[in-house]
Amino acid sequence: MAEKKNIRNIMLIGFMGAGKTFTGRELARIMGMRFIDMDEIIVKKAGMSINEIFSRYGEERFRDIETEVLKEISDKDGMVVGCGGGVIVKDRNLPLLKKAGIVIFLKASPEVIYERVKDDNSRPLLNVDDPIRRIKELLARRMDRYLNVAEITIDTDGKTPLEVAEEIKQVLEK
Ligand code: S3P
Repeated sequence: MAEKKNIRNIMLIGFMGAGKTFTGRELARIMGMRFIDMDEIIVKKAGMSINEIFSRYGEERFRDIETEVLKEISDKDGMVVGCGGGVIVKDRNLPLLKKAGIVIFLKASPEVIYERVKDDNSRPLLNVDDPIRRIKELLARRMDRYLNVAEITIDTDGKTPLEVAEEIKQVLEK
């Protein structure tokens, strides 16, 4: 008989700067779970930064590694996972996200996202002349995907990571 899974993973999705990492750390702490960050695993696996993966091998190579990492996570349980903002871009990742656990979309407005990411140049997709325009374009293209794959959507504008984490905990305990 197949072994029964313990606590499902909590998969945090959302745009860059939505607070997946900060909220994920708080959530893991208050839930007594372990936090992992997909981008960090990708960087370790590739042995180089995300900017370097994009500039040396292109976005497609990055997406391939992202899918490999997601597959590995989908075989495990009990973790809070901060997913990369573009994890919903490839159709092949959608069933993997659902298999991995409960998917929670952290929603944020373009203005709030911009404020959170503007001083950080570690995100190749936002290293452009007009980042706010790029944020709006990408968000518009991705929004339905985030909403459709998520079981729960949480608005994060004006809330601290701890407040968002507490809200998620409450919803999960209902
Ligand atoms: C990306 C988001 C980033 C990282 C990469 C691509 C995206 O993760 O995976 O730069 O396509 O939205 P964060 O959302 O953690 O910044």
